[in-house]
Amino acid sequence: MSVPTHGAPRALFASLSSSRIARAAVLCAAFGVLAGGAVAPAPALAKTAPPKPALDASAVAVPDRYSADTAQQIFAAGGNAVDAAVAIAFTLAVTRPDAGNIGGGGFMTLFMDGKPYFLDYRERAPQQATRDTYLDDKGNLVPGMSVVGHRAVGVPGTVEGMWEAQQRFGKLKWKQVLAPAIRYATDGFEVDPSLQQRRDAAAKNFAGKTNFDAYFSGLKAGATFRQPELAQTLSRIAGDGGREFYEGRTADQIARQMYGHGLVTKQDLIQYKAVWRQPLSADWNGYRVITAPPPSSGGIGLIQMLKMKADLKPAFDGIELNSAPYIHLIAQIEDRVFADRQRYLGDPDAEKVPAAKLIDDAYLAQRAGEVKPDEVPGATPVKAGLGDALPEKAQTTHFSVVDKWGNAVSNTYTLNGDFGAGVVVDGGGFLLNDAMDDFVTKPGSESAGGVSGAEANTVAPGRRPLSSMTPTLLLKDNKVALVIGTPGGSRILTSIFQVMTNLYDFNMAPTDALAAMRFHHQLLPQKTIYFEPFHPVTGELAEQLKAMGYTLEEQSFNGDVQLIRVEGTAPEPAADPRGVGVGRVIR
Ligand code: DON
Repeated sequence: MSVPTHGAPRALFASLSSSRIARAAVLCAAFGVLAGGAVAPAPALAKTAPPKPALDASAVAVPDRYSADTAQQIFAAGGNAVDAAVAIAFTLAVTRPDAGNIGGGGFMTLFMDGKPYFLDYRERAPQQATRDTYLDDKGNLVPGMSVVGHRAVGVPGTVEGMWEAQQRFGKLKWKQVLAPAIRYATDGFEVDPSLQQRRDAAAKNFAGKTNFDAYFSGLKAGATFRQPELAQTLSRIAGDGGREFYEGRTADQIARQMYGHGLVTKQDLIQYKAVWRQPLSADWNGYRVITAPPPSSGGIGLIQMLKMKADLKPAFDGIELNSAPYIHLIAQIEDRVFADRQRYLGDPDAEKVPAAKLIDDAYLAQRAGEVKPDEVPGATPVKAGLGDALPEKAQTTHFSVVDKWGNAVSNTYTLNGDFGAGVVVDGGGFLLNDAMDDFVTKPGSESAGGVSGAEANTVAPGRRPLSSMTPTLLLKDNKVALVIGTPGGSRILTSIFQVMTNLYDFNMAPTDALAAMRFHHQLLPQKTIYFEPFHPVTGELAEQLKAMGYTLEEQSFNGDVQLIRVEGTAPEPAADPRGVGVGRVIR
């Protein structure tokens, strides 16, 4: 990485904490920073040589064409990867209301000016939430309460996350990066048939329980969908900064929507903070993997899978990709990953999470040693590996960005289920998440996505629910080599693992690596291999797996991996053929 792409005032923002906004105003004056985080032309910067491009072009892999157009505009205006990422995130909040959001949360893995960073803007449990919130008087789980409607909503983190990232690393004015989203909300966008399908399915779930239809009945394939209230909300956030969502009129609208029905209060919003964390990293295959730490389970799981597979090289030798013996070996690796997840993982700010031990080479070699190619599935119960218990849900969306300076952003964010809890903030025009279902709502129970968990992931005030979101980067010689991620709940890490091994163990081109069959297995239900509608497991392969003792089950969800591979100085973006995403090189 060559010359820094942002100047002194930005670095200064990095060290400012939340009440930082007020203090920042004072400091800004001294450093030539304008209200809203924009940097005024400073004489010192004018003397700095312009950054030398490290790559031939910028590139994005994004889940729809509108966000690709947004990225193009941002790069044309001189923005960097973070400006593009933030603009994409706000655009998807308009054009992909099933998953893109301002009422949810997520994770961003960054590589800026030669250094890796991780931003946790995961939703948090409201202060009124307790481990019994979703139980009735008899201690039984109230069906659906953590999935649909007001009580399912966690304190949203997306706006704070975007604000933090853009203030710290962006080059453009905050207003500039919100402008494309505001335009799509005001002028509308043409609805894709797949979005209408998801809307129709979600509307059945929400019928009679939420105000979803009052806002989203107009999502009809081919129609132009306009969101005037959302446009106003985004304009307020653009004008007043990210804290407007937490402290301004938008916060009041959320609190009003929740009052008497949900748990989130204005105080919860005021207290919300995004957290910069140390990303997880590990060496693999000549690359450095940079990925999501807890409260994601995904980074730990991904590293465990990659390393165990490498440790088991002799067992994999001569075994064909996605053959029955291959799936059997991977399933045994996955049993161990999910056993550890279920036992140890939760919010690292609330519970001690043994992350370093779980990705330790010696530990993983020992765990890989437990895998037996000839063992009947389920013959030996798989326990968590460090001594002394997962379901989850499929909507989320991921995008990958590199800029010509060699910076990169891998971002996954979510409302959890399609269209979240189905609750729209009246007057604000945006949906709220159902992230509370990612907690263990009753110890021993499963989430809607089919993963279970233990004490470390029970509901507690302020705690972050365990996630599978795994925005990931690969570095080679401290330069970006891959930017990758996907939605899919607990399928996230197993999908990323498969695409990475397709790319680097099987030397496939990005489009082939994405198009190849994917499967999923996660300890529970035992002996079950999930396959996807995009590439069903049929014929001889299905027969072989059944003969081995596996049950085959079609999952409704396909995954939507967005990746950019960089070889030399050429970025090669590719969007999953399972979705309507776009890979675009931007010069
Ligand atoms: O954080 C998590 O792991 C889940 N809320 C993600 C849900 C998801 O990926 C749904 N995607 N299709």
